[in-house]
Amino acid sequence: MKKEKTSHENPEMKTVGPAQNAEAAQARRSFLGRLGLGATLAAMAGQAFAFVRSLIPNVRYEAAQRYKVGLPSQFGEGSKYLDDKRVFVFRERNTFYAISASCTHLGCTVKMLRLNQPRKVKVGSREFEEHHEFHCPCHGSKYYGDGTNYSGPAPKPLEYLKLELAPEDGQLIVDATTPVEKEFRLTV
Ligand code: FES
Repeated sequence: MKKEKTSHENPEMKTVGPAQNAEAAQARRSFLGRLGLGATLAAMAGQAFAFVRSLIPNVRYEAAQRYKVGLPSQFGEGSKYLDDKRVFVFRERNTFYAISASCTHLGCTVKMLRLNQPRKVKVGSREFEEHHEFHCPCHGSKYYGDGTNYSGPAPKPLEYLKLELAPEDGQLIVDATTPVEKEFRLTV
């Protein structure tokens, strides 16, 4: 019967001493350390990406241009939101004006919030009573009823858009290529 060689007898087999054991343990620790560092860096990169992504609205909108929105008689007193155009059209007796629903921060669509009670607001030297406000669901910007931004990251007021009457059929035209002052009113 053939006898197995022990490490003393077999030159191919090496005896592993305490020094090699320590080296192997050190190598394992260093590998695990690198693995941990890599995971931490990956997590940090993921968080940074999520933060940057949160600043970008989910939906990007092409700038609206110039379009008909219907006859003045189709608008009742107060406001009407045109979902497909992202614009609020307001009627006060025989005058009309339009405010863009595009948030001036990153372009999300602001929502109109009707107030339970009218509230007095002072913007500069002008004081007025508001019945609604505009709030942006993306990053929390808030605008008074006249479109003036007062809270959140929005850098400027909502845009007022020019209104005209189409000579051929009398429909209201919103001209989004021409922002106007907030005092602008179209009288029909
Ligand atoms: S898009 Fe950021 S607050 Fe409106």
